[in-house]
Amino acid sequence: MTLTACPDSAKNISDKLIGIFFEDINYGADGGLYAELIQNRDFEYSLNDRQEWNSTYAWTLKGEGTRMAVETAEPLHANNPHYVVLDTKTPGASLINSGFDGIVVRKGEKYDFSVFARTPGKSGKIRVSLQDGKGNELASEVVTVASRNWKKQTAVLIPQADADDAVLVLSPQKQGKYVLDMISLFPQHTFKGRKNGLRADLAQTLADLHPRFVRFPGGCVAHGNGIDNIYRWKNSIGPLETRKPMRNLWGYHQTMGLGYYEYFQFCEDIGAEPLPVLAAGVPCQNSACIPGKLLSGGQQGGIPMEEMDEYVQDILDLIAYANGDPKQNKWAKMRAEAGHPKPFNLKYIGIGNEDLITDVFEERFTMIYKAIKAQHPEITVIGTVGPFYEGTDYEEGWELATRLNVPMVDEHYYNTPGWFINNQDYYDRYDRSKSKVYLGEYAAHLPGRPNNIETALAEALYLTAVERNGDVVSMTSYAPLLAKEGHTQWNPDLIYFNNKEVKPTVGYYTQQLFGQNSGDTYIPTERKVDNTRMDVQKRIASSVIRDSRTGDLIVKLVNLLPVSVKTAVEFPGLANSSAVLHVLSGKPADQHVKPQESTINVSEKFDYEMPAYSLSVIRIPSQ
Ligand code: AHR
Repeated sequence: MTLTACPDSAKNISDKLIGIFFEDINYGADGGLYAELIQNRDFEYSLNDRQEWNSTYAWTLKGEGTRMAVETAEPLHANNPHYVVLDTKTPGASLINSGFDGIVVRKGEKYDFSVFARTPGKSGKIRVSLQDGKGNELASEVVTVASRNWKKQTAVLIPQADADDAVLVLSPQKQGKYVLDMISLFPQHTFKGRKNGLRADLAQTLADLHPRFVRFPGGCVAHGNGIDNIYRWKNSIGPLETRKPMRNLWGYHQTMGLGYYEYFQFCEDIGAEPLPVLAAGVPCQNSACIPGKLLSGGQQGGIPMEEMDEYVQDILDLIAYANGDPKQNKWAKMRAEAGHPKPFNLKYIGIGNEDLITDVFEERFTMIYKAIKAQHPEITVIGTVGPFYEGTDYEEGWELATRLNVPMVDEHYYNTPGWFINNQDYYDRYDRSKSKVYLGEYAAHLPGRPNNIETALAEALYLTAVERNGDVVSMTSYAPLLAKEGHTQWNPDLIYFNNKEVKPTVGYYTQQLFGQNSGDTYIPTERKVDNTRMDVQKRIASSVIRDSRTGDLIVKLVNLLPVSVKTAVEFPGLANSSAVLHVLSGKPADQHVKPQESTINVSEKFDYEMPAYSLSVIRIPSQ
């Protein structure tokens, strides 16, 4: 193959092509990215979350002499109605939390324990300890419960040994009633040391993608299963005990401990644009929804029109929360009180998530869109064109977006590798005068849903086409992002993890190679492939871009053929130099390969042999 660059025909492309899609699916938030180690810390798990769950899920009382009850009469906060009462006649029993599949603790690290407690009687003491799976005590402290009103008690636990299966043990030391809520154990070691922060290893793995934006909180989680399940950002901010937990439509519980403040903070910490996605006043598919499946003929619905003004105001308040002046606006003041007086510099808002484009949707979307546009012309609103499957409202979504002149729309599609290979010209055909595209969810799916070299290379090949179309495609994000082993509702995902390990997939490395080697200028090439068969030609792809921040040139080559391909690259004016080469390759079914780094000499004319089944990225330093 020969590849001849045409630098004179270079065009500007989006510098935000690679971002991340965070959704609380597969235990992505609680038990995942959110570093809290106690499961059901607020006793708010319920049947509503999952059939076999109740407010003592993950808690057990062991030993004699104490009775445990869950009560609601005088809660810590109306949004957090359940709490536990330990009525101790004789000390000896303990309340134990098993964490999310056990608690992983490391010797010498500091863990912040906290509890809101009160007692109707005399003051009492609770011994708080960490025990490993064999019952060995790893750390202990004593907290006093003396107040008749709710009062936060804290202690720092420092384990004397490592454990992967620890539990938290609370043992009343005196006779009396102990009323407890929000029992928390948080590692001091979080990403960037943030309080109420993120699991350091997982967050670092996300940061290493060099995402230019983070979409949150979903996906289907954003618009919820039914109107009552719509994610309301205001429920996710403020002191933890005042946040309003909610059923997660993926079949578990959202504490909201990882809320909008934490999302914004994370974006700032990794230099990514925040991209919140809010429901367009309608829940998943305008009605009850089985995630991943579209219901036909389901009852349509949306927030009643008489409540829509309030809902629109909620969205405007979010912009104020993120960007407003704390002296002028009560939401901005809450941001400042949480520790961030400066604005978060929000620029994008997604409205809707692959919704059915019904009249109910259209009426509400239009109302929200017009209000944001009128009051915040500086914000780019991203609409939705529905999921791209047969029988869905893709066309109607585009028609509405075009009619309203929506600046950008969110497209979603999960397809076979063959689809990605055969549709590389998908965006070549797009009308440049219409809305820009945010490809907000995509992934190559094979039967059995593995994430392997075949899917990773199909995605890489498609991303070279996205770069070529970076004048119409502004952003992309692979979905879903995170999956906890043993708690996965959707495959494939980009990063699997358990309590101890983070396991990036091969698809992760495709995203990383594109994210770490992004640019803002596309340099067209002329390509000649010796073999004239279309099916062969389609399995080879390339793109050449420049990153104006560094001046580096980046050549990406994808080979989805079972043989290597000799490539002669011609780049007029390129001086002799040494470039960095990253190659991701393997057999199609390989799931555990990583890119290899080496160097390569480049010049005006240089040869490179693409390995069979490979993505090669050649980064040529600024000259
Ligand atoms: O990415 C998983 C799910 O796929 C998202 O929640 C939803 O938007 C889509 O159907």
